[in-house]
Amino acid sequence: MSAQIISGTELAASIRETIATRAAELTAQGHQPGLAVVLVGEDPASQVYVRNKVSACEKAGFKSVMHRMPENTSQDALVGLVEQLNADPTIHGILVQLPLPRHLDSHLVIESISAEKDVDGFHISNAGLLMTGKPLFRPCTPYGVMKMLELTGIDLRGAEAVVIGASNIVGKPQAMLLLQQGATVTLCNSKTKDLKSHCLRADVLVVAVGRPNMITGDMIKPGAVVIDVGINRLPDGKLCGDVDFESASEVAGWITPVPGGVGPMTITMLLQNTIEAVERSI
Ligand code: GUN
Repeated sequence: MSAQIISGTELAASIRETIATRAAELTAQGHQPGLAVVLVGEDPASQVYVRNKVSACEKAGFKSVMHRMPENTSQDALVGLVEQLNADPTIHGILVQLPLPRHLDSHLVIESISAEKDVDGFHISNAGLLMTGKPLFRPCTPYGVMKMLELTGIDLRGAEAVVIGASNIVGKPQAMLLLQQGATVTLCNSKTKDLKSHCLRADVLVVAVGRPNMITGDMIKPGAVVIDVGINRLPDGKLCGDVDFESASEVAGWITPVPGGVGPMTITMLLQNTIEAVERSI
């Protein structure tokens, strides 16, 4: 194995220390960071994510308020709660866990969150601000990936960056953040022809597809930085990424593991965004 491992677990712990210190200072000034997390329904994965978010907030000294609503919650009731949270000065960040039950319109719900409290960065104004190079909030996973890239010391100016997966939550904002740092960005999607030829050009390869081990060592440029956003559960219960770690780590210069890579960074950047929201509000 030749690649250096980028430990999300270690990087996240060090950023969370800084965040906790800043949270204590803000609290002493009467501005304890407050995050409201809204969960509608009983989706088991969402319950785990939300629990982890609330627990990370508490460990960092934030006020954290969890709102659980039943599966059959109406659009009006959910938007009503969001509006109440928008008006609450002790709440700086609002997160409505996705996916929502099918009868609810997640676009309308997200648009009802005040853009200044949209710590996920999913509101259409925040997507637009990111696109125009003046982000208010950076979506948490791509923001965490940028922090991991910083750790490697790679100069992104003029670097070839290839992002695989064009979702609103990861791929598209990731491409924008890389572009802002001067990278030449290729955003691949499920229709991309000859994915391998794109991958082989990449100095930075970010993979966010949700297909176990789809990127193999023969698709990676020697020395590249490989960031694996995927978390997949195999039939034997083990977790794996979208990148085949064993073969990729023979070729890459840097690589993120799964688990312990991008995962711990996402919640950390949620805390970071909440701190940024407090700082802008005072
Ligand atoms: N569901 C999966 N990832 C996310 C996320 O980052 N934010 C929210 N709100 N829901 C999600």
